[in-house]
Order: sequence, then C-alpha cells, then structure tokens
Amino acid sequence: MRLLTPGPVALAEPIRLAQSQEMIYHRGPEIKALISNIVSRLKSDFNCENVFLVTGSGTAGLEMAFASLTKPTDRALVLTNGVFGDKLGQMARIYCNAQVEKLPLGKGWSLERAKEIIDASGAEVFAMVYNETSTGVLNDAKGICQYAKGKGMFTILDAISAWAAAPLDLKEFGVDFAATGSQKALGAAPGIAIVACNEEAVKRADGISPRTFYLDIKKYKKEAENSQTPYTPAVSVLFSVKAALDYIDSRGGLGAHRLRHQQAAEKAREFVKSIGYEVFAEPGFYSPTITGFLLENADEIRKRLREEYKLVTARDFGELQGRFFRICHIGNFDDEHLEASFDAIRKVLGK
Ligand SMILES: Cc1ncc(COP(=O)(O)O)c(C=O)c1O
Repeated sequence: MRLLTPGPVALAEPIRLAQSQEMIYHRGPEIKALISNIVSRLKSDFNCENVFLVTGSGTAGLEMAFASLTKPTDRALVLTNGVFGDKLGQMARIYCNAQVEKLPLGKGWSLERAKEIIDASGAEVFAMVYNETSTGVLNDAKGICQYAKGKGMFTILDAISAWAAAPLDLKEFGVDFAATGSQKALGAAPGIAIVACNEEAVKRADGISPRTFYLDIKKYKKEAENSQTPYTPAVSVLFSVKAALDYIDSRGGLGAHRLRHQQAAEKAREFVKSIGYEVFAEPGFYSPTITGFLLENADEIRKRLREEYKLVTARDFGELQGRFFRICHIGNFDDEHLEASFDAIRKVLGK
C-alpha cells in the first residue's frame, strides 16, 4: 500500500529505520542531546523563543494553549472555513467564551474578510487554522494574525498541516502560539505535537490557573531548560523527528522542502484541471499540501484506488461527505509517487 494521505504520511527509509533504535532513558544525557538538537533546529525555523515537544497528536499542542493560557472568562474569536476550524471552535468553547465565525467551504480567510469581525469582537484570544486540511484552503494567517496581535489579542495558530510546507515565522506573522504534528509535512511518525511559542505566551501562564495537568505549559517550560519533558516522551517518535529533520537537511533544508510542496501543489492543480475538474479552493488560497475537488461517488473511487492500485487516499467529511476527493502532497512524497498516483486516479476515473 502507498499513502496519498494528509498524515500520517509515508516514511522515508532513514526515518522509518530511526524508530527501531534501542531505547534510551528519558532522563539521561542521550535524551537531552536528542531534544536539544531537535528543539534548537525548530526554534530557528519558527523564529521563536520556545519549542515544546508534547507527546500526543497535533491537537494536544493546540489544547495546551487553551487549557493553560486562557481563562473561562476570556472571549475567544475563532475563524473557521472547514472541519478543522470547527474543531478549533469546539475546543475554544470548552475553555473560553467563544465566538466562532464561519466562511463557506472553499473560501479563504483574508484580512479584508476578517478585519471587521476582529474589530467588533472585543476578544482577548484569537485562533485560526492556517491550512484547512479538509478542503485544501490556505488562509492568510500572516495578514490576519498580525492584525489580531496588533489589536492586543493573544494569537493561536493551528499550523498542523501547514508548517514545513508553508512559510511560518512566528515574529513576522504575529503568532504567539502555534502547533503542528510530527506526522504531517515534517514527514515523521505520529505521536509528537510540536508547540512553538514566544516568551509572552509563556509569561501569560503566570496569571492563569491551568485547567490541565498534562498540558500545563509551565511544566514544559521548566523542563525545557534542561532539554527534557515533564513526562515520559514518545522516544521512538523523537528518533523519527530528528531523522526527518536530517533527511530534509540532506535534501537542501526546510526552504527546499517548502519549495517541493509548492511545486507538487502546482502539479496537482494542473492534473485536476487536466481531468476536467475544478480545484475546490478559491484562487489565491491554494494549499501547498492538499488539492481537493468535488467528485461524485468519491467513496467508490477511493475503494477502487485501494483495491486496484494499492493507493490509500483520504476520506472526506461533514458537508462534503462522499463527494470530495483530496490529493495530498505532504511530507515525504516524490515526483514518481505523485505521477503514479495521478495515473491511477486518471484510470479509475476513466479520463
Ligand atoms: C489543520 C488540522 N488541524 C488539526 C488536525 C488534528 O491533528 P491530530 O490528528 O494530529 O491531532 C489536523 C489533522 O489532520 C489538521 O490537518
């Protein structure tokens, strides 16, 4: 089976093999060297003061922000345009007084569309998804977060399917707190949420009583001083995270990795047009990792791709259930795999 999924993604061999290393003690010098290596490289890419490695999927990283950096009385504005934005809204509702604003599916959030809502909200906390994975829409996180931060809001960004494929400099974007997952564009195994945040975010925790034990950011900050985590981390996944960073470096670094995503996304858009479909995302908001299009009988097509071509493709959800198809070019894909996937899709669709 080959994966054409939005994550977990296929593992390149050195990343897969890295996970089978002998275990190391999670309080010994080896783990400190491993964590400090990963964290220093990630801090430099995110351009931020703090990176925490949280055992869990990407969602655990986002929940750290709400559970340890907001108060029940905080007003939180959440922008959504798909399933993952909706989930962020649901999370915000658990911890804060949330206002959730929605755009129709396929439309992207631009500053122009968000400005008045931000101005009118009076919220202290702002959250949005950078890349809406369910539809393949890349929102203008930079323009919007900069603006929200300028209004004094604490900005939280779900960068789960965006980081390492789309640019993300926390200082330049005005993002206080961002989270991603090891199994996405980084191309490692699932199990580690990567949290990147500034010093302001960590200081914010001082006046707030955490509504979480495991995800209390203060504990991560304290242990990070010694390149450790508060609780036993998923050590094998950390091996794969380091191997994924090494693998990306061996292929020209994160800049080249981002460029490969952009180029693959362009190819996928051309392919979709070539078989007579329209890319679902509004022009100007194309995702570097997911290219989606409306497709009747999508379940049947996915089943045939799996059975006839051993190609595993991603399900669709919610309003688009059964009639949406996503081509995922994220993580460790290569041209050969993409071309073979296009070929299989073309054949199954009879195009
Ligand atoms: C944009 C976005 N947010 C959140 C999630 C949830 O991530 P996880 O399953 O790693 O918790 C995903 C997963 O696909 C995602 O793409």
